[in-house]
This record gives sequence, structure tokens and C-alpha cells, in this order.
Amino acid sequence: MKLQLLKFFCPFLLTACLNSNTNGRKENIQSDVITCFTPGEVWKDTEGNPINAHGGGVLYHEGTYYWYGEYKTGITSLYPDQGWECYRTDVTGVSCYSSKDLMNWKFEDIVLRAVENDSTHDLHTTKVLERPKVIYNARTKKFVMWLHVDSPDYAKACAGVAVSSSPIGDFDYIGSFRPNDAMSRDQTLFVDDDGQAYQFYSSEHNQTMYISRLTDDYLRPSGQYTRNFIKQAREAPAVFKYNHRYYLLSSGCTAWDPNQAEIAVADSIMGPWKSLGNPCMGPDADKTFYSQSTFVIPVHGKENTFIAMFDKWVKTDLEKSSYVWLPIIFDDGFPTIPWYDNWDMTVFLE
Ligand code: DGJ
Repeated sequence: MKLQLLKFFCPFLLTACLNSNTNGRKENIQSDVITCFTPGEVWKDTEGNPINAHGGGVLYHEGTYYWYGEYKTGITSLYPDQGWECYRTDVTGVSCYSSKDLMNWKFEDIVLRAVENDSTHDLHTTKVLERPKVIYNARTKKFVMWLHVDSPDYAKACAGVAVSSSPIGDFDYIGSFRPNDAMSRDQTLFVDDDGQAYQFYSSEHNQTMYISRLTDDYLRPSGQYTRNFIKQAREAPAVFKYNHRYYLLSSGCTAWDPNQAEIAVADSIMGPWKSLGNPCMGPDADKTFYSQSTFVIPVHGKENTFIAMFDKWVKTDLEKSSYVWLPIIFDDGFPTIPWYDNWDMTVFLE
């Protein structure tokens, strides 16, 4: 496939007047119907408010996509004396948006909420909540969320788990632990074609990536795991399967600052993994377009069609962070992520 860095013509249609309000959120009365992706720009939901779902992932379930992410509000502060730029916001919770077309997103709710009255709770406002991912367990008919929960200095390094009977919550928080007795920070989930689920997580002080098979109910590690990319300091993992092989997109480890992405491939999900280098192409590809991976969405009903989700962090005002979504284009079987100022699903037909 010939790759071109195109600028698509992307009209926005003004169609909706909305006057409902949800959970006291700010509201705009007019909303555009979005007809293309505009990476890095402010992305508004169907009420006209900027989408607030950072470090997130997308679940497709019964005809609808659900986007879960960190709902970041309020002041960004620097936690003192860490020797690194430990910026954080207070925990608000995990947001959920729904969409039929992956462009126009309706705010559903905060589906896992911060806890205000128990300072020892993992979800207390003073803690850290990052990178929530939700998968559906067809056997238990439960939606299972895993997330990174941490102390404000990031020393706790645990995975938290929550469950719900509905994709739009509420999720009941079960608790946290160190999976396989190992630190767990940046993390994602992946469900294979056979229904087996896996957690990928940065461990050993973010130096080594663990891949941990989950129990059949998806609530715990099964005990079977591998250590990968040993001492290579990979984080922000995002996994997909293409042509019977597994691909892992990840970032380097530079706190909230951007670095070069890397993609790796494996014949078996537990490894061994082989690096294929940087898949990003175009301006600032060496800095992942000033963003960081969080998830890869398989587009439903379109074979071998994937969208890479990245966060464009604003470290001193994390609420203002935006999103970079780009198509994964296979060039002679090699996955590439070319930059587009704007694009739609027709890029997959080129
Ligand atoms: C990079 C991680 O990918 C983010 O999720 C967050 O933990 C920041 N580090 C904190 O600096």
C-alpha cells in the first residue's frame, strides 16, 4: 500500500441543540456532528463538552463502542521531592462515553467514582487512578475493569479491579493487589479469540513488561505469566492481533513527556516478542506526535482495521490533555501509523 500523509477535507455539520445537563457538567447548547478524526484537537462529546477520558480504552459490545478513561478535573499539582515530574490531579473516577461510529461520543456517566470519605481507600481523591480498561466476560456476563491504582507518590504500584453488570455502570470496586506479587503501573487488557484474557503491565519499577493470564472470571491473575522487554523500560502498552500474530505498541518511560513509540510482534501472546521499531510516520514521529499510546481499537465488522489511541498529555494541566487517534496501516504486512491532520475510515480503503 502506498502511504501518503494526506490532509482530508473534513466538514463539520451543525445539527443539534441540546439543553439537558448531566451530573452538573458544563453544557453547550449546540453540538456538531463529527465527520472525521482530528488528532490532537479538542474533541467534543455530543453535548459539546471536551471528552474527558484519558489513558483509556474502548470496548465494543452489542453494536456500541464504549470509551472508558480517567476523568481528570481540577488543579494539576506537583507531588514534592520525587526526583521526577510527579504531576497529578485528584481522583474523580472513570468516565464512560458511548458511540456507534467512533467519532461522535455521548457522555454516559462516571462509572467508577472517587471515594471522598475514606482516606485509606484506593479510590480516595488524594490517590492516583490511571489507565482503566474494560473487557466483557461472556461466561459470567460481567464487565470487568482493571486499572492502575497508586499512592500519590506512585509507590503503591497496584492493579485495581471493578465489575458491573452493565457497560455503563455503576462498577463495584473489588480491591487492589500486586499481580503475581509484582509492581503494576501502566497496564492494559486483551481478550484473545478463545476467550482467555491477559493483563500487560509495566513492572519492576517500570523496567520490565509482565504478561499475565487471568483467571476464567477475569478477576485475578491465573498465576501464569512471563517477563518481557526485561530492563527495557516500556510502558503505555496497547495490544492487538492481526493475521494470527500479536502486536504490542508501547512507549518509553519519560513520565508525562513524549518519547519514541515501538511496536513488537509475537507468535504467542506470552512471548517471545520481537521489536519492529517505531511504527509512527510523519512530522514528530520520533516523539509519537507528542503523545503516548493507550489502546488499539479493532474496528468492528472490518477485518484487519485498527485505530491506535494515544494521549497528548499537558503535564501541568492534565485535564487539558487531548487525544491522538490514527489508523494503523499495514505496509507489506508491517504495521505503520502515519500522521493525518484529519482522516476518516476511507483511509483504510486506499
Ligand atoms: C507515564 C504513564 O504512562 C502515565 O500513565 C503516568 O503514569 C505518567 N507516567 C506519570 O508520570
